[in-house]
Amino acid sequence: MTENAQRRPTSGGDQFIGKAVDRVDGPRKVTGTAPYAYEIAEGPLPAYGYILGAAIAKGRILEIDAELAERAPGVLYVMTHLNAPRQPEFGPAVTPAVREVFTRARPVLRGDHVHYYDQPIGLVVAETFEAARAAAALIKIRYQETAGDFGLEEHLAAAYAPKRTNAGFETDSAVGDFEAAFAEAEVRIDVSYRTPYQHHNPMEPHATLAIWQGDDVTIHTSAQTLSNFRAGLAATLGVPVERVRVVSRYIGGGFGSKLIVHADSVFAALAARILKRPVKITLTRQQMFANAGHRAEMLQQVRLGARADGRLIALGHDVWSATARVEEFCEQTAVFARSLYAASNRLTRHRLVTVDLNRGEWMRSPGEAPGMLALECAMDELAEHLDLDPIELRIRNEPDQDPERRVPFSTRNLVACMQEGARRFDWGRRSPEPGRLREGRKLVGMGMAAAIRPNYIGAAAAWVRIDAEGQVTARLDMTDIGTGTYTILTQIAADTLGVPLAAIAIELGDSRFPLTAGSGGSWGAASAGTALLRACEALKEKILAAARVHGAPVRNAADVSMAAGAVRFGNRAEDLKDVLRRVAPEGLDARGSVEAGAGTEAYQAFSQHSYGAHFAEVSVDCDTGEIRARRLLAVIDAGRILNTKTARSQILGGMTWGLGAALMEKTVLDGRYGHFVNHDLAEYHIPVNGDVPDLDVVFLEENDDKANPLGAKGLGELGVCGAGAAIANAVYNATGVRVREFPLTLDKLL
Ligand code: MOS
Repeated sequence: MTENAQRRPTSGGDQFIGKAVDRVDGPRKVTGTAPYAYEIAEGPLPAYGYILGAAIAKGRILEIDAELAERAPGVLYVMTHLNAPRQPEFGPAVTPAVREVFTRARPVLRGDHVHYYDQPIGLVVAETFEAARAAAALIKIRYQETAGDFGLEEHLAAAYAPKRTNAGFETDSAVGDFEAAFAEAEVRIDVSYRTPYQHHNPMEPHATLAIWQGDDVTIHTSAQTLSNFRAGLAATLGVPVERVRVVSRYIGGGFGSKLIVHADSVFAALAARILKRPVKITLTRQQMFANAGHRAEMLQQVRLGARADGRLIALGHDVWSATARVEEFCEQTAVFARSLYAASNRLTRHRLVTVDLNRGEWMRSPGEAPGMLALECAMDELAEHLDLDPIELRIRNEPDQDPERRVPFSTRNLVACMQEGARRFDWGRRSPEPGRLREGRKLVGMGMAAAIRPNYIGAAAAWVRIDAEGQVTARLDMTDIGTGTYTILTQIAADTLGVPLAAIAIELGDSRFPLTAGSGGSWGAASAGTALLRACEALKEKILAAARVHGAPVRNAADVSMAAGAVRFGNRAEDLKDVLRRVAPEGLDARGSVEAGAGTEAYQAFSQHSYGAHFAEVSVDCDTGEIRARRLLAVIDAGRILNTKTARSQILGGMTWGLGAALMEKTVLDGRYGHFVNHDLAEYHIPVNGDVPDLDVVFLEENDDKANPLGAKGLGELGVCGAGAAIANAVYNATGVRVREFPLTLDKLL
């Protein structure tokens, strides 16, 4: 059960905020009446596109013959690089500034070069999806193939330092003299961890319905951040951004794979313009493995130098990651290590090795997900070396300010999370010596890890209106990718205006609505929520102002107030609806906004993160090596919790991702052809219900007043951070076998 171990109420009404309110979009989702992009039935009958992918990873198309496909039944149009509409050039391959990553043109079929396996090289549009796919198989292609580079470790010597990592973080950080301090340390850990390619696999594949009306195009698609997506698509089509409308009302998961424009949207828009008819295109599940991003393969070296009492004097985290030759992406894998533990000498570095694959993209908890698998296991190794409890080791290295930025933390309850977790998980039952706990043929082990994730806030605006009947409509271009955005925004509006949940209609997912930072980086709730909070506060002020002018006479304007569905005039209360009918028969509206945190001094003055502690108990079969997670617990400090039900679901999902990363997930790259082999959900292993054991989440709630007016911090991605390391540490505790290559499959234990 979810519990709030501490509850410190915050300012503002909280009749609904903080409660386990059911998802307001739940009934629509479970009754199938919430349409996803590919299901939208709007405009004239659509045609269906099928994308043809390259059968080589690198080289040129010498000849492409589409004649048979063009004459196939039902086919309306075939696009190849020979007849593709003009599109702007794809920009330089190096990491651009943060905004340009999203807004750059991403043209398709621009030239005869193949940069990665399954790169789109053609599009067939037909009356049905099946006809388009069948015709695509009739296209004859002759390639000139070039040998590609696909391996990370064989090219480490050619690794380079990019200009910046994802999200604009510095590639390197150095404090003090790491090498000297590490050499002098009484206890040293120098270990390397390997993490594999991983793919997001949201339940809803990438899909687009494009409808042109004159020079305007409406794109129904599955996008996390509409304003970025819109700008990127407009740049690709070479049209003014005002001509593009993006609609994403319901989204079946994103996980970072739906932050930028992908081929389905570009092709649908191009083909629909040519055919003067709506075009629908989806990436198939298999196509998503090459065309919708991935987490790159990485090698991480963690060096920890400590005194005999466990205090770190040197902390080094080096990351080598594969990146696409065609477009660089450097995951910020070691950035969290700059804030997690005290150590006077520090070094973090990111290096890239170029491969001939498609670009890597953001994947749930970019940075911490792979990075904490390395550092938090290395901390476990250090604790064992020192004969120290892993929690005690972490407590001894708790910093009193951000160790690299040297600014105070806004709030930080990592130690409380670990201690509360230890108590609840019965951590005392763990044997410090591995392999000691046995139940029949099963070895049983316990492990823990810390969790940290930066708190962001993005620019956002909201519009809200109340009609004379007291019904509230709020509009933002925010998205709900399955996280519960509709619900928490409903709670915020209801509490701020003092009306019931049923009086609120939240409208999201339309680029015609006020701009927000969308869903990503776990900033959605705080950013969109703050904008809506302010819009509702402004609306409330307008209602009161109108009531003061047109309301019953009171001596003092301050005597007019609003709460619980009523307006109070002195000591007389009048129903809000009656007041509105009288003072604002046309209704009233207002706007609110918040600026991007990164740009404000108040935000910069503090190191803002959410925290947690993960605990895991696993069993390992002595004969087969089969690993089963038995119990997982996360104790979470993410500021004020807006909705304990949706927040809990987010953390449960994150813990399940951690379980997948620890034990199952790996996309296998065929080093001969540069092709992801297990490119479907039958062979890309993720946890299923039977793999997910007893999961528990506890929130150590508090109000982070440095973060935003809501006091909430990002938590969507926090559940992943450190979860896999806790499981890996439990596997070590069970077996005494330290596996440093993820996922921990049974063959690695035997
Ligand atoms: Mo997230 S990987 O920033 O959608």
